[in-house]
Amino acid sequence: MSVPSPALKTDHMILRGGRPLEGEVTLRGAKNALPKIMVAALLSGERCTLRNVSRIADVSIVSEMIVAMGGEVSSPEPDVLEICAANLRPMERSVLKEFSGKSRIPILTCGPLLARFGDAPVPSLGGCRIGSRPVDFHIRALQELGATLHDEAGNAHLTCERLTGNKIRLDYPSVGATEQVILAAVRAEGVTELSNAAMEPEIMDLIMVLQRMGAIISVDVDRVITILGVKELKGFDHSTLPDRLEAASWACAAIATNGKIFVRNAKQYHMMTFLNRYRQIGGDFRVTPDGIEFWREREKLRSTALETDVHPGFTTDYQQPFVIALTQAEGVSIVHETVYEQRFGYVDALNRMGAKIQLYRECLGGLKCRFGQRNYKHSAVIVGPTPLHGAEIDIPDLRAGFSYVIAALAAEGVSKLTNTGLIERGYENLVAKLRGLGAEIVE
Ligand code: EPU
Repeated sequence: MSVPSPALKTDHMILRGGRPLEGEVTLRGAKNALPKIMVAALLSGERCTLRNVSRIADVSIVSEMIVAMGGEVSSPEPDVLEICAANLRPMERSVLKEFSGKSRIPILTCGPLLARFGDAPVPSLGGCRIGSRPVDFHIRALQELGATLHDEAGNAHLTCERLTGNKIRLDYPSVGATEQVILAAVRAEGVTELSNAAMEPEIMDLIMVLQRMGAIISVDVDRVITILGVKELKGFDHSTLPDRLEAASWACAAIATNGKIFVRNAKQYHMMTFLNRYRQIGGDFRVTPDGIEFWREREKLRSTALETDVHPGFTTDYQQPFVIALTQAEGVSIVHETVYEQRFGYVDALNRMGAKIQLYRECLGGLKCRFGQRNYKHSAVIVGPTPLHGAEIDIPDLRAGFSYVIAALAAEGVSKLTNTGLIERGYENLVAKLRGLGAEIVE
């Protein structure tokens, strides 16, 4: 049976706002966990079963990439993937060319390919346009594990005899670089101690998969992950954790449209920082064994001051949908974005819809941030509440895209959103879910 691909293939959406979103949506596996676990399957020659798989673009892209490298990927049931990399081949230039630029995931194949073949091409990366998003931490960490970088006429690749464990400290707790080190060190010789590591729930899910495969990995509360390399890894059977970022997006949709949404499979444990903020601004929620229900508790939402940060801080991926809710809060809210230097690109269009948001280069917050005194408008001051009205908007990135959908549904009148295909990267069955909640999608 073929691999599931995203159902939504539209490039635009016309929405009429002004109605509360009410009803239920179901979450499946997290966008920021699924494709990485698929890459982990390349470390083994045995069959790997991945459950709770969402039909999102990154899953299709990584499936195609694995097949193009000689692996087998099938889908015996709609939300199950079986991967077998027994016949995996080194990545050819043509494969690299085809998948470079489509997604952020190919860079994570470096560790598994070095372990299997001693050679890994370094792809140029796709993903959302929200900052420069370099891969220097990834490459430096792989070099610290013993890989050599060759950059022949722009065709960069890494080689090694066998990777060797080392003490590695990341300059910043990067999610991707943490995953890179883990995926490379599990089959390296000896111990790797990674400090200043990211600790996102999706990384913990990856570590659990690797432990099932035979890896020996321990996690300390002070951002230290220790990996004792092993010679071989087995297959796995794993059900991916649900997508907390999608859950928070629907929670923001409920509060911004004054509706009520039950998010089936949402987990409180993964979302505690978000839930605190949600309640603080006047939202509320009810946790049940099957999910979390979200609604607006106070008629007038309260403003707040917050800073995005790595987990367990307020995750940057919550920022854009949350700002839509803040346009409806009384008073002045401040948001200091400390993870990406350019994650407020979506604000101009919101202002055209009636929001009052001003951006600043200064750090409007207490967190030590890499973007202060540089030329990045990474702090936002939001004055509310402002009624929103429909507009024509081109979507620049995934989270901004979903946020415009919420803004359009909270607004009076009709909005036309273009480039909606980008939302497919992280939101499965978006149109069906929106319709199920009573959204008026004209086209
Ligand atoms: N960074 C470097 N050098 C590196 C790697 C990262 O300077 O080698 C910087 C980045 O430029 C950024 C910061 O470190 O300023 C954090 O980047 P990180 O590596 O943590 O991000 P990522 O792994 O590329 C993942 C998610 C993002 C999410 C971030 C932060 C995936 C596929 N993507 O990206 O998800 O925002 O972690 O949590 O897991 C999204 O879901 O909308 C999304 C963009």
